[in-house]
Amino acid sequence: MVTVQNVATPRLQNYKQFTNDPIGFFMRMRPLGDVVSMKTGFSPTYVVNSPEAIREILIRHDQSFFKGRTTKVLQRTVGEGLLTTEGERHGFQKKYMQPTFYKEALERYAYAIVEETERVAERLEQAQELDIHNEMMQLTLSIITRTMFSTDVSAEEKKLADAVTTTIEESVKILFNPIILPAVVPTKSNQKHKQAIRTLEDMIENVLMVAKNQPERFHHTLLGMMLEVKDANGERLPDKELRDQMMTMLLAGHETTANLLAWIFAEIAAHPEVESRLSEEVEGADLSGNPFNWLRELPYVQQIIEEGLRLYPPAWLIYRELSEPLEMFGQTFKKGSTFMLSPYAIHRNEEVFPNPEEFDPDRFSSGNRYAPFSYLPFGGGSRSCIGSRFAMLEATLILVVLYKKFTFSNLRPHAPVPEPLISLRIKDGWPMKLERR
Ligand code: HEM
Repeated sequence: MVTVQNVATPRLQNYKQFTNDPIGFFMRMRPLGDVVSMKTGFSPTYVVNSPEAIREILIRHDQSFFKGRTTKVLQRTVGEGLLTTEGERHGFQKKYMQPTFYKEALERYAYAIVEETERVAERLEQAQELDIHNEMMQLTLSIITRTMFSTDVSAEEKKLADAVTTTIEESVKILFNPIILPAVVPTKSNQKHKQAIRTLEDMIENVLMVAKNQPERFHHTLLGMMLEVKDANGERLPDKELRDQMMTMLLAGHETTANLLAWIFAEIAAHPEVESRLSEEVEGADLSGNPFNWLRELPYVQQIIEEGLRLYPPAWLIYRELSEPLEMFGQTFKKGSTFMLSPYAIHRNEEVFPNPEEFDPDRFSSGNRYAPFSYLPFGGGSRSCIGSRFAMLEATLILVVLYKKFTFSNLRPHAPVPEPLISLRIKDGWPMKLERR
């Protein structure tokens, strides 16, 4: 049975730690109980730790929750796309977007992922060092724009990747600030945010214009499919919705995977035994035919990614808010109550993952299965990640193409430090030395 404990430390101390060191805060809360009440009076807030409690929230009572504060902040950038809509509208959007992630679509994307990664590998032939975070940001951006809207952004990928980073940094400032100033207030932050959104919108508007004039070029992409969608009244999607979904893909569909990969590169370099097993697998694999089928040949690479997702879940925090009063865990929770789940802390439960700080891909060797919701890098229930299989495919192919050609070593004397923004990135980037095999 799920129990709810009151936190013992004073409210102000909890609040300060949450804003100064959110990761430390969730790690401190995790062993305190299944659900920990922050005793925050008017707007009750809870930290949810146990898999049973998570299941109740994400699955059983899913209909009583909405995404709350996160949505309000993200809407500034992505408007009303799949990440931020609720209820029926969300259901309609998920239904029309789902085919973009079916197996047949992934089989097509696999070629584009490999080609884009090979383009980067060619450029890196001349390099001695690289910042793996920046490199992965630009690569995953070019992959998402090419696969989702058939657009080559290689000429301006740095400018666009920087704009995405700015929107994320500015969104986080608002998310963790108790007072949300309206976007129209001309603060320096709001102006910077608007400028970054404008940069992304310019690209999106250009792509939309081309897509409307030459729809045949966009067949088999998300944009091509969205141009065909009709709602219950037989109406096509308005341009605003197309813009919002494209913005959603830019924001949700590349930074998460880029951050994950940066952590994985750093961990592989710190674990020579992992690197040699990875190299052995890549060298022995039959990498001919459709790259989607390479996955079958690369179980250890996928274990590495699963372990990366455990230790460094890009979506390190999931928020839910109650849209109505709810009976749960033997008590009544008020409308507006906030529930916070941190996969980062949950994935470090030593009863499920012994020696939890150790990077050990063998935890995911075949046969090892973890109880539902003790491992949830892609969330769960109706709001779970639509791009999870895309992300796994992309991360696998990027690692294979790059490790076939290069070895990477860490340059900093210390371990990477996590910076929890909307997604969990390495603080101050991560320089690496590069050698050809
Ligand atoms: C390693 C990479 C990724 C991770 C760890 C990740 C994680 C997540 C998580 C945990 C959620 C649920 C958030 C919540 O419940 O509040 C989510 C939602 C979402 N993700 Fe991902 N994601 C990744 C990559 C991607 C990619 C590649 C795409 C698109 C191509 C994508 C698109 C989305 C969208 C649109 C949603 C909202 C789904 C909905 O509300 O129905 N994600 N992601």
